[in-house]
Amino acid sequence: MEEKKIPEFEIEKYIHSLHLHPILEKAALYTLMLPGKRLRPNFLTASAEDFRVSKKTTSKAAMAIEMMHAASLIHDDLPAVDNDNYRRGKPSNHVVFGEDVAIMAGDLLFSTALHLCEEIDESVSVAFSKTLVDLVDGETRDIIMSKSNDVTVDEIVEMYRKKTGALFAFAFSFGPRIAKQSTEKYEEAGYNFGVSFQILDDILDVTSTFEKIGKTPQKDAEQHKATLVQKIGVEDSHKIADTLYRKVLLNLKDSEKLLKEVKKSEKLLRKR
Ligand code: IPE
Ligand code: IPE
Ligand code: MG
Ligand code: MG
Ligand code: MG
Repeated sequence: MEEKKIPEFEIEKYIHSLHLHPILEKAALYTLMLPGKRLRPNFLTASAEDFRVSKKTTSKAAMAIEMMHAASLIHDDLPAVDNDNYRRGKPSNHVVFGEDVAIMAGDLLFSTALHLCEEIDESVSVAFSKTLVDLVDGETRDIIMSKSNDVTVDEIVEMYRKKTGALFAFAFSFGPRIAKQSTEKYEEAGYNFGVSFQILDDILDVTSTFEKIGKTPQKDAEQHKATLVQKIGVEDSHKIADTLYRKVLLNLKDSEKLLKEVKKSEKLLRKR
């Protein structure tokens, strides 16, 4: 049997212990529990294993990072943002629970994610708050750029580093952060992986199908999104993603588990 990527039972127990309104509880668990690829908790766990971090600490942070990711997806899909009706192969959170409750479910998951990290230690909690600031700034840059006709490649890459790279940077640097070692190399690898991953996501938006990606394809052009693919085309975007990915592998050459997990994810992504 394949190992669970996030401690799902623990998550349900934790959210239930907050004694929330049952609709908020349901909405928060809905997107979170749908079968995503669980890349971020996987990378975080691998990084923790490379640095022999305890299972208890790792599992709290794995829950937290998937919560923050799920919250960002709920808000990203809202009609005011990307207006996406499908996520993880099912109707988006706001389609099922309404925009009002979906906004609250996202807020809740951002809060519980931060709270879980506070329980670990101050260095983790500070880094995780910074990750959320980057994510929100990145999503905002995405929104603003989508309304402009004059966006540069550098501005797009900076937006990708923030909206997508920040979470991977946190995951990749989790082990060394707990072990009180330098995190710089791992953070840079995480940012580069994030940008290359976002480019791939943008390419899939153009080339893939609903069955494969579980969300509506061809949405970026329709929404006038500022993506590298729209700016320089699929082929050149692919080249940049490949170069960044090779940098990641080089940076992680001494990280046994994390490197293995990154290579596994690449195979998974290539299948789509
Ligand atoms: C989707 O991330 C959002 C992006 C950063 C492109 P994933 O593709 O990892 O989504 P799930 O977790 O598998 O649903
Ligand atoms: C990444 O960008 C979303 C977040 C960082 C939340 P997209 O808007 O391209 O992600 P998808 O395609 O909706 O998953
Ligand atoms: Mg978006
Ligand atoms: Mg989107
Ligand atoms: Mg996308």
